[in-house]
Amino acid sequence: MSLFIDSPIRTAARLSVAPMMDWTDRHCRYFHRLLSKETLLYTEMVTAPALVRGGALHLLDFAPEEHPVALQLGGSDPSELAQATKFGADAGYDEINLNVGCPSDRVQSGTFGAVLMKTPELVADCVKAMQDASDVEVTVKCRLGVDDQDAHAVLPHFLETVSATGITRFTIHARKAWLKGLSPKENRDIPPLDYPLVHKMKADFAHLHISINGGINSLEEAMPHLEQGLDGVMIGRAAYHDPAQVLLHADSRVYGKDDQSSAEAAVHDMLPYIEAHLQSGGKLHQVTRHMLGLFTGKPGARAWRRVLSQGASRPGAGPELLLEALSHISQSHPDQAAE
Ligand SMILES: Cc1cc2nc3c(=O)[nH]c(=O)nc-3n(C[C@H](O)[C@H](O)[C@H](O)COP(=O)(O)O)c2cc1C
Repeated sequence: MSLFIDSPIRTAARLSVAPMMDWTDRHCRYFHRLLSKETLLYTEMVTAPALVRGGALHLLDFAPEEHPVALQLGGSDPSELAQATKFGADAGYDEINLNVGCPSDRVQSGTFGAVLMKTPELVADCVKAMQDASDVEVTVKCRLGVDDQDAHAVLPHFLETVSATGITRFTIHARKAWLKGLSPKENRDIPPLDYPLVHKMKADFAHLHISINGGINSLEEAMPHLEQGLDGVMIGRAAYHDPAQVLLHADSRVYGKDDQSSAEAAVHDMLPYIEAHLQSGGKLHQVTRHMLGLFTGKPGARAWRRVLSQGASRPGAGPELLLEALSHISQSHPDQAAE
């Protein structure tokens, strides 16, 4: 029986922002947190070898404001994953997630990511070792299957085998990964989505907490999945490209709490964070690159993006650039056509 049945992290997981390499770094997560207090945020995948053999513990740094935040690990060696889990737990993450979905070549050569859909027993060994390493909840993000596997046979077997370890929370990217012939990017679009199969898994494994992921473009599109009984919805690209649309009303709609005030307020709230980042030797564009989509679809959005993307890499660029960019939003007339 899981110890985590009623834990706050499960409630948070009703909506999550997906782990995305090079995108959901700590700056992105800090920014997303200003748009929603409740949504669960995931790190980029950090590989267990990078932590354990490479000693790259700085990859685990995050701000306390980011909670609830989950660390995603990649790997397939149980003892290495156990050690990496311990590092993650010591760093203060609220959840440790194992990546069984990433199809990239680099990851395949290290035998982890989506290729692990072929070896559920090995995934179970990994998860068991991770669970034994700390008290933090361990979860899995997987696909429907890979290549020519029959997803209707493989996925239930995978869930049964892996959940026999005692873990009860899975996020399922509702398409297969095709390991040969498609780039990672194509693998996020070309294999067809099968939402009914994920809903069937919830019906068949009612005791498991199951989140659905893949191709969900808005909070609007997320809600029916929750209403139809899934425990959570994970949104990736839409949350990154149009964060206000996904996150700004999530606290009220998904969690029944008060929403964060506005996209404009989030910009102002980023200024002290940016100031501190610059003072510690960081660059403005490292933070602002995650904010380009904030006003997507709003009058002035193009100017906002232009000012930030052209100005943020200039030597000496500072927080005032955000205010300049924001002035294009504020100056825009409300009934001006969206850009
Ligand atoms: C730029 C990028 C990087 C990604 N990196 C990861 C990753 O590190 N770990 C992972 O499990 N999935 C990764 N993914 C996949 C997403 O987590 C998600 O499963 C996928 O984008 C489908 O969800 P969406 O349609 O809502 O974007 C990545 C996706 C993108 C776009």
